[in-house]
Amino acid sequence: MFTTATRDFTKTNSLPDDLLAAIVALKQELNAIILAHYYQEPEIQDIADYIGDSLGLSRQAANTDADTIVFAGVHFMAETAKILNPNKLVLLPDLDAGCSLADTCPPDAFAKFKAARPDHLVISYINCSAAIKAMSDIICTSSNAVKIVSQIPRDRPIIFAPDRNLGRYVMEQTGREMVLWDGSCIVHENFSEKKIVQLKVQHPEAEIIAHPECEPPVLRHASYVGSTTALLKYARESLSSAFIVATEPGILHQMEKEAAGKRFIPAPPTTNCACNECPYMRLNTLEKLYLSMRNRAPEIVLPEEVRAAALRPIQRMLEMS
Ligand code: 13P
Ligand code: SF4
Repeated sequence: MFTTATRDFTKTNSLPDDLLAAIVALKQELNAIILAHYYQEPEIQDIADYIGDSLGLSRQAANTDADTIVFAGVHFMAETAKILNPNKLVLLPDLDAGCSLADTCPPDAFAKFKAARPDHLVISYINCSAAIKAMSDIICTSSNAVKIVSQIPRDRPIIFAPDRNLGRYVMEQTGREMVLWDGSCIVHENFSEKKIVQLKVQHPEAEIIAHPECEPPVLRHASYVGSTTALLKYARESLSSAFIVATEPGILHQMEKEAAGKRFIPAPPTTNCACNECPYMRLNTLEKLYLSMRNRAPEIVLPEEVRAAALRPIQRMLEMS
């Protein structure tokens, strides 16, 4: 079994026999907290101190007194934790765990988009880079976007970035017009409306539930739309016995745990691929999580001026939600 005395600090990728015990030992040594998103592999979810959606994870990051945050999620999530905790070590097991949606909003192009609309308030979905956050007035997540937009005076024009699907959904829910950045997520835009309807015909007892990053035709079939945490809560509390779940299937692990006895059917993608799985989230593995803690790397590092500018809109979100 792994012991602190035998641990070496070289960057070799040798692994201890008992990975779980080694992670627990490192957690103590680093005074670390492991935060995981619901799209992580089940074995990572099972070892996490907290599993949640983007809002829950941000709140945990804002309130933790740990010295090290190990973020089992994607880059923008770990970056948010670093923005909130400049003096803590924030580790991301695989630095390539990015986000297709965040990538649809390059800072230079967004700066021009914003400059062309100087009177607009900028509300950005948390799935964006620190540079975009730094250009925003308020950040939101899928669980508080409607609430935040509803608090803005009706005569104030709004730019909403980067997800056009969440933006459209918020416009529908609030009756507000907003200028939308044309971004989307490769996972959520890939769900097939046709296959979901076919599944519903095969399982008439199943409710369709969906994440607001899905395209409007899929959302129209959903009896409930919400963030990952909201979908989980709905599945737990609904009287239905089966659900067709239109979001990344990693969430099914907690749904099956917390609503045992109910049936969860992942919504299928358009083609016969595994593209309903987020390729970025799935880059993290238990092995990489261990290695990141052992090597104290890869670490999230941010220029201080970007971090400070990105902090304000995140704080506004935390105050408003
Ligand atoms: P949630 O905040 O709902 O967990 O969404 C995060 C995400 O990346 C969805 O694709
Ligand atoms: Fe980004 Fe989509 Fe993956 Fe969520 S599922 S992290 S939006 S690529």
